[in-house]
Amino acid sequence: MLGMSEPTQSSTSPEDAFGLATPYRDVTCGDLRAGDAGREIRVAGWVHRRRDYGGLIFIDLRDRYGLTQIVINETEAPAAAEVANRVRNEFVLEVRGKVARRLAGTENAKLETGEVEVQAASVEILSEAQTPPFYINEPDAPVDETLRLRYRYLDIRRRPMLDRLLLRSRLVSAIRAAHERAGFVEVETPILLKSTPEGARDFIVPSRLQPGSVYALPQSPQQLKQLLMVAGMDRYFQIARCFRDEDLRGDRQLEFTQLDLEMSFVTEERVMDFVEAMIVEVSRSVVPDRPIQQLPFPRIDYHEAMERFGSDKPDLRFGMELVDLDPALGEGITGFRVFDEVRAAGGRVKAIVAPGMADASRSGIDELTEFARRHGARGLAHISVLADGPAGAPAAHSPIAKFLGDDRVSAIAGAAGVKPGDLMLIVADADAEVVADVLGRLRQELGLRLGLADENVLAFCWVYHFPMYQWDSDGGRWHATHNPFSGVLPEDEKLLVTASGDPYKPSRQDPAGKARALQYDIALNGWELGGGSVRIHKRELLERSFALQGYSLEQMHERFGGILEAFDYGAPPHGGIAIGIDRWSALFAHQTNIREVMAFPKTQSGADLMLDAPSAPEPEQYSELGLRFVGLEIEGKQS
Ligand code: AMO
Ligand code: AMP
Repeated sequence: MLGMSEPTQSSTSPEDAFGLATPYRDVTCGDLRAGDAGREIRVAGWVHRRRDYGGLIFIDLRDRYGLTQIVINETEAPAAAEVANRVRNEFVLEVRGKVARRLAGTENAKLETGEVEVQAASVEILSEAQTPPFYINEPDAPVDETLRLRYRYLDIRRRPMLDRLLLRSRLVSAIRAAHERAGFVEVETPILLKSTPEGARDFIVPSRLQPGSVYALPQSPQQLKQLLMVAGMDRYFQIARCFRDEDLRGDRQLEFTQLDLEMSFVTEERVMDFVEAMIVEVSRSVVPDRPIQQLPFPRIDYHEAMERFGSDKPDLRFGMELVDLDPALGEGITGFRVFDEVRAAGGRVKAIVAPGMADASRSGIDELTEFARRHGARGLAHISVLADGPAGAPAAHSPIAKFLGDDRVSAIAGAAGVKPGDLMLIVADADAEVVADVLGRLRQELGLRLGLADENVLAFCWVYHFPMYQWDSDGGRWHATHNPFSGVLPEDEKLLVTASGDPYKPSRQDPAGKARALQYDIALNGWELGGGSVRIHKRELLERSFALQGYSLEQMHERFGGILEAFDYGAPPHGGIAIGIDRWSALFAHQTNIREVMAFPKTQSGADLMLDAPSAPEPEQYSELGLRFVGLEIEGKQS
C-alpha cells in the first residue's frame, strides 16, 4: 500500500514535489470543481460531519484547504460502507473514488467544492479519534477559552482560529517581500544573551558551562541591530522573538514577535517614510478590503496628541477631542471649589462631549465616574444638554450648575460645542497628565461603545517627539520614556545636562526634563503598533544620556560596554523601529486579544495549559546548574 515501503528512488519532478499531492492524496479537500467530474482521485482528511441515510452515508471530509463531500453507497461499495459505518467525527480517512456532479438542487453554494461529490470506492481509516471536548464543526459555538488553550490543536482545526493563523502568515510573507524589495537583509540575532532593557523584567537562563552566570533572553534585539549598523549592514530586519517578564494583558504576552528593523544614514522622516510605505503595501496586500483612513498618515507631535486626544496612541477613527475649559471659565473664582483649587494649583480643567448621551441614567453616570476614579481622577463632573429648555432652547443640566451658575455652564457647554442630546464629561486635576489620561481613556471607551469607530477602517497615525526622559523619583534619576539609546532633537542636545553641573548627579530640576527625543510611535485604531527612534551614534553623547539615566561610568561599561566601544570604531547615523506582529495581526483580524492570533499563547498567569509549562526543573538540573530554590516549597523537588 501507499508506497511507504517502496524503493526510495524518487520519480517526483521538482514541480510535483512542491505540489500538494502526496502518496495519500491526489487532491486536497478544497480542490475539486465541476470540471473534475469523472476523475478517479484519492483524498485524505478529517471527518467533519457524517450523516447516515440508511444505505447511503455522507461524509464531509475536511482539511486546511476546504471540505469535500464523500458519498458511500452500500450497494455499490459494501466494503467502503462497512468502514464508513464505524467512522466518527474527527477520524482521519483516506478515500478513493470518482468525482461526480451533485444532483441538480443539491449543490452547496457556500462551499467552493459544493458542485461535486466523491463517490467512494474505498474508505480507509488512517487514525481514530475520541469525541473532541468541543464541537469542531460549529465554528460559532462559544467554547470556554481554557478548554481551547488546553486543546489548542483542536481549536486550530476550527476555521476561525485557522483563518487567523493564515492571515498572520500572509502578513509576515508580505512584510518579508516588502523588505526584500527595499534592500533589507534578514539577520538572526541570539536569544541567549545579555539584558536589553525595554522597561520590563528579564527572563534569565542559568549557564551550565559558567556556573553562577546567567543569560538574559532579549526584550528586543535593540543593541544587536545597532551593532549591525556599525558593521555596515546598512539595512537590517528580522521577525524577532522577544521576551518580557511583565503582566499579561490583551495586547501583551511574555513572548511575542516584532518586525524589527534598522537603517543607516537616515533621519526620522526617512525611517517614517519607508515604514509608512511598507505598512501601506503590506496592508493592501493582506487586507485589501479595509480602507486606510488617511494618507499620508497623520504625524502628530506628542504634546499635541496628549492635548487633543489624551493619548499617545489616539484612535483617529472618530473625533470627540478633548476641550480645554479654561478660557470659557473666565478669570477669577468660578464658585466651584474643585475647579478653583485645581486652577489655583496650575492644573487643568478639560472635557469631552459624548454625542447623544444626555439621557444617561444616574447609574450610567456613576459607572463612568467609577471608571474615571479607577484611572486616577478625583471625580467626574457632567453637563447634560436636553432639548427641552424654555421656548425650545436647549437646557443644560448639571449637578455643578448650582456652584458655577447658569451663565458659566452655558459658556463652557458652548465652548465645547455641545449640541442638544449631548453629554459633556469634565475632569479637573492639578496634574495635567491625570486629566489627559482619564479623558483619553473615556474618549476611547465611549467612542467604541457609541459605535463612532468604523470597524473596517484602518486609521494609522504617527506620534513623535516624545519627551526624552521622565523623572523617576524612587531611583533619583531620569528614565528614558522609550528607549535608552534614542537620540535627541538637535536643538535640544544642549539640554542633556544636569542642573548641578555634575553629569552623574541628575535631579528633577535638570534641563534634560524638557528634551525631546527623535522618537516616533505608530498607532493603529487606538493601539500602539510600534515604536522606534533615530539613535545616538556618538559615544560621548550616549554616555551623557546614560549618566542622566542614573548609570555610573562603571555601570554603563558593565551593561553597555559592547556598544559604547563599537561607537569608537565609526558608527553611521542610524535609526529604526519595531512593530508588534501579534498586535498587527490581531487588528487585521478584528481581535481585541493577541492570544487569538498566536498559535500557542500563554494564559493570564503565564501558563501553557497544553504542555503544562512552566514546570519544576528535574532534580539533576539543579545540581548541573548550581541552583537551589530558596524559601519556595516545591513538592518533591527541594534540594
Ligand atoms: P517597544 O518596546 O516599543 O520598542 O516595542 C515595539 C513593539 O513591540 C510590541 N510589544 C509587545 N507585543 C506583545 N506583547 C508584549 N509584551 C509587547 N511589548 C512590546 C508593541 C510595541 O509597539 N527596541 C525597540 C524598538 C526600536 O526602538 O527600534 C522596542 O522594542 O507592538
Ligand atoms: P463634590 O463637591 O465633591 O460632591 O463634587 C461635585 C461634582 O463634581 C460631582 O459630580 C463630582 O463627581 C465632580 N467632581 C469632583 N471632583 C472632580 C474633579 N476633580 N474633576 C471633575 N469633577 C469632579
